[in-house]
Amino acid sequence: MKQLFACKPLSLLHEEMAGENRLRRVLGPVGLTSLGIGCIIGAGIFVVTGLVAHDKTGPALILSFVVAGAACALAALSYAEFAALTPVAGSAYTYSYATMGELFAWIIGWDLIIEYTVASASVAHGWSKYAQNFLSIFGLHLPQSLTAAPFDFDPEVGRIVATGSVIDLPALVVAAVLTTILVIGIRESARFNTIMVVIKLAVVLLVIGLGAAFVDPRNWHPFAPYGWAGVSLFGHTVWGAEAAGGQPVGMLAGAGLIFFAYIGFDSVSTHAEEARNPQRDVPIGIIASLLICTVLYVAVAAVLTGMVPYDQIDVEAPVAAAFAARGLTWAQFVISLGAVAGITSVLLVLMLSQPRVLLAMARDGLLPESFFGAVHERFRTPWKSTILTGCVVALGAALVPLRILAELVNIGTLLAFVMVCLAVVIMRRTHPNAPRPFRCPLVPLVPLLGVALCLLLMFSLPPENWLRLFVWLGLGLVVYFAYSRKHSKLRARLAAGDVSGCVASAGGPQPPPG
Ligand code: ALA
Repeated sequence: MKQLFACKPLSLLHEEMAGENRLRRVLGPVGLTSLGIGCIIGAGIFVVTGLVAHDKTGPALILSFVVAGAACALAALSYAEFAALTPVAGSAYTYSYATMGELFAWIIGWDLIIEYTVASASVAHGWSKYAQNFLSIFGLHLPQSLTAAPFDFDPEVGRIVATGSVIDLPALVVAAVLTTILVIGIRESARFNTIMVVIKLAVVLLVIGLGAAFVDPRNWHPFAPYGWAGVSLFGHTVWGAEAAGGQPVGMLAGAGLIFFAYIGFDSVSTHAEEARNPQRDVPIGIIASLLICTVLYVAVAAVLTGMVPYDQIDVEAPVAAAFAARGLTWAQFVISLGAVAGITSVLLVLMLSQPRVLLAMARDGLLPESFFGAVHERFRTPWKSTILTGCVVALGAALVPLRILAELVNIGTLLAFVMVCLAVVIMRRTHPNAPRPFRCPLVPLVPLLGVALCLLLMFSLPPENWLRLFVWLGLGLVVYFAYSRKHSKLRARLAAGDVSGCVASAGGPQPPPG
């Protein structure tokens, strides 16, 4: 029992940071912000916007972006405080370990697999669709058997159906290529990412600049055809309207779904260990990437819903289709190219983040260290877990229907945000004097508002996601009690009397090195 709620001392985290076998410190503020943007702008803005505007919000999508962005901003301030306080690789997992104890840390680490690996698989799937679309502009088509996963969930009939394909080959190939780049090195990965980020930012700015000329303000009326709310409590809509299938609709329901578009800013915190000056640059990277993307998203949403009546927005490729409808085929081509580049960099950074969380868990003994903790001698990257992540993503995207898994991503990520906000409040109480190079303002108000808003978004998601989340976390608990609890390094420290509970901090907090 004592072990379950034992916290990892802050001093130990700082001690470990100075140790051997660390990742290479090569990233500056621009590199970190670019990694953030690299992971944020992708399938969310290029694909999910159409679905949300069409089915859930109408033009109120603009406000859904503001609400989801606000939830992320509140969480981002907490992430920034923690990332500056403990700039190690584990992100929300490490923060929970230092404040809420081993069991919660494990739950969050396990939950982050949903955010990174499952999201990567969904995004690889989306990449494949856009790449095929792009190739088709040149008259190139893959054989049908290589274009999609062999089966899929059909929402119309409510069951799994055969797609007629055998494997999604482009998804498999993109995951394999990116895995190779990731093993070779963080510097190479960051460089590749920067090129992709420049391309996609140029395309998003083109969409906003060119699209503004085609906006017809009449399309913004009615502004919220589905209403302003859309909150359900375990299967019952308690606030706002619901669609024929019983799912909540409205501006808040839209915010719960479009939250997907913001996922990724927190990945900056998983690279704290590779930052040259983490105490200063990681908060900058987190907040700057989120701010830039929020402004761009709101502008794109305004342009899209202003160009096309909401009920005529294309749900597959909404942005490209809006320009195609105006006869701007060249713009359609450029936007498709930008979408492929954008989604590639999202995939790259998500797949870069997962092994770093696994690495942190392995260093604590919660996962086998010889595998998940191995850092390549020459490349200084967590190569074994990078390859494992790549294989899972490639096989998942190539063979598994991802509609269900994609929805899981939002709820899992929101849960991690809730935990990080709570962890900041707890850490301020347990370690009031620890050096905080970045301080979240108005604690506990800001983090608690973050908790409230993230919970509201979790309840705005279709209710079956809660069930899936609980099943996944239940599976995680089985692994914890079967393996991790026994191999935990904190367990040995507890036995030696080094650590006594969450308030205890062996040796007191030390200023982080560097
Ligand atoms: N935010 C990422 C995207 O939109 C996951 O693709």
